[in-house]
Amino acid sequence: MTNAPLALPEDTGRKTRVLTLTNGSAGSGKSTFAAAVAHAAATHKKKVCVIGMDRQRDVSRLLGYDDPDGDEELPTLFDVVDGVCSLAEAVVPARHSRTGEPIAGLSLVLESSKLDRLDFKLAEQTARELWLFKLLPELRGRFDAILLDCPGDLKIGTVGAIIAGDEIVGCTKSQEKEARGLTELESKIAELHADYQFMGMRNALDWVVIGEGVTSDSQGKVYRDIEKQIREAYGTLVVDPTVRNDVKVPEAYSASLPVTLYSPKSDAAVAYTRIGRQMKLYR
Ligand SMILES: Nc1ncnc2c1ncn2[C@@H]1O[C@H](COP(=O)(O)OP(=O)(O)OP(=O)(O)O)[C@@H](O)[C@H]1O
Ligand SMILES: [Mg+2]
Repeated sequence: MTNAPLALPEDTGRKTRVLTLTNGSAGSGKSTFAAAVAHAAATHKKKVCVIGMDRQRDVSRLLGYDDPDGDEELPTLFDVVDGVCSLAEAVVPARHSRTGEPIAGLSLVLESSKLDRLDFKLAEQTARELWLFKLLPELRGRFDAILLDCPGDLKIGTVGAIIAGDEIVGCTKSQEKEARGLTELESKIAELHADYQFMGMRNALDWVVIGEGVTSDSQGKVYRDIEKQIREAYGTLVVDPTVRNDVKVPEAYSASLPVTLYSPKSDAAVAYTRIGRQMKLYR
């Protein structure tokens, strides 16, 4: 297994913020956020690591690895759980999908389609819900921020990330399905908190990010109303700019690049850069 030494910064004892990006519902903008905000933080000279946790491998693709399963040399998160390598050994540099150049300050742990067997794999472990909590100390002190890009469900992968993270970011769209996903997420947090509060686990969402909001009433009043309801329900937890519907996001997906790199001046890139700043990931 290979990894570039530069991908794993030295342990300087810095405070590492671990952000869990999640929602009980799929397609809520988590991977778009992970790639864009991590890239924005790296361009602001921060050291950032994205841990991809989804068998669909979207964030791995956005950060330069089209098919981690296709290259036996590449370590993945599944290999870590499987005991093939340590989490620190699985950190690779993010890279530009077109040029292959590493992106300074930005690292990631790759996903594998094998992650659909995570439940099964963890069944053998004791305290299985703590699987990620037990691994993260290997990376703390090395990065300013670690972003956990969860799959769109509340299974063991996500549960582990909710317990392991320092801050929980509820990603949603101004649509009924994703808004309901946030409510399900809150119930899950409360349930886990009952068991894990002794470890200092928080009992609430820390941030709510709204993505793919409509740009005008003509696109659908119902979406505007749902956005309003989310802002009323979650108040100051909601970061300020809603990321509006922007064709540059799917275009960036097709180009396998973070939207902030693909089109830095696009509305979505500007909004994600502001969101990262509001979350105090950089100035
Ligand atoms: N602001 C936006 N404008 C237009 N399309 C968007 C926007 N944000 C996200 N999308 C699209 O919505 C889809 C889902 O986004 P994304 O993959 O980030 O969500 P996810 O929560 O990671 O999904 P999953 O649960 O499948 O992992 C993608 O096709 C993406 O291109
Ligand atoms: Mg995703």
